[in-house]
Amino acid sequence: DDTRAGVKGLLDAGATSIPAIFHHPPDSLPQQEADASSITADDAHTAVPVIDLMAAPREEVVALVRAAAETAGFFQVVNHGVPGEAMAAVLAAVRGFNEEPAEAKRPYYTRDTAARKVRFYSNLDLFQSQAACWRDTIFCDMAPEPPAPEEMPEPLSVMFEYTDAVRKLAVWVFELLSESLGLAGDHLSRMGCGESLKVAGNYYPPCPEPHRTLGNTRHTDPTFLTVLLQDGVGGLQVLLDRGGGGGWVDVPPVPGALIINVGDLLQLVSNGRFRSVEHRVLANKGTGAARVSVAAFVDVGRSMRRYGPIQELVTPPGGGNPPIYRSVTVEEFIAHFYRKGSERRPRLD
Ligand code: SIN
Ligand code: FE2
Repeated sequence: DDTRAGVKGLLDAGATSIPAIFHHPPDSLPQQEADASSITADDAHTAVPVIDLMAAPREEVVALVRAAAETAGFFQVVNHGVPGEAMAAVLAAVRGFNEEPAEAKRPYYTRDTAARKVRFYSNLDLFQSQAACWRDTIFCDMAPEPPAPEEMPEPLSVMFEYTDAVRKLAVWVFELLSESLGLAGDHLSRMGCGESLKVAGNYYPPCPEPHRTLGNTRHTDPTFLTVLLQDGVGGLQVLLDRGGGGGWVDVPPVPGALIINVGDLLQLVSNGRFRSVEHRVLANKGTGAARVSVAAFVDVGRSMRRYGPIQELVTPPGGGNPPIYRSVTVEEFIAHFYRKGSERRPRLD
């Protein structure tokens, strides 16, 4: 069979049920009632707040960002400077690319991250994971070295403009996060946290058996920060931990907003103050439109530089606030990430 046509290809071929490879073990499938029992919509909104980045006074914005980064590890932002037209255009472009005939996508098909800067595939870990997810992806390496314009599929050319705007937003968010740790505003940026930007354009077609599979398995992001744009369909959930009374809560679509979440490396450099929290995507239950999301992974370049808990945040040996992580190079961290394998549970230990 041909995995190159992706999940969309299965639907186009007339699938009315999902192949067994997409069946997830029952214990990783959502049991909404049990999971959400202790959490109200108000709790969820408090845990994953929508923050107006232009609100005054700025210290209040810093305090809201700090509270969210220390608890749910997720927040939404509005008045973030990324033009609404660029957001709409990139969502439409990812949808458009994925809805092209299989022949148009095939030239971009590869699982080899070194092969080219723009890659199409369904489930990067298809051959390692226990179960596949109901999702196709167009993945673009955008910084530090962007693709040449002719390497970008025509319908996706808006990706350049969109990612320029997201990089500016990332600098702003790093400023707020630095300040909320009591550091100089440029601290995280000067560490090189925003050098690299990779974008996953995710396409979640309607699923004929959504109760058997997922759009994305539970995982934390192995990067510094993720800036996520989702369309209006919904399905993203974050795992709240509230003193035993936690559970999966929806991160609902908010028109015009972008979602920010803390990645593993930001948890590491913040010495555990900021939390990289597990999240997942439910399979698209709809019968009509596919869900589209655009996840921008903001990260350090693959330098030999070591990343460990920031000096200013830890005390010398014997003090009350020792470093809880050792320092690693990005290479070491990524190797550790892959050793932990397909289960994709939190990897900081
Ligand atoms: C992800 O966490 O990788 C994707 C999130 C989404 O599609 O909303
Ligand atoms: Fe993620």
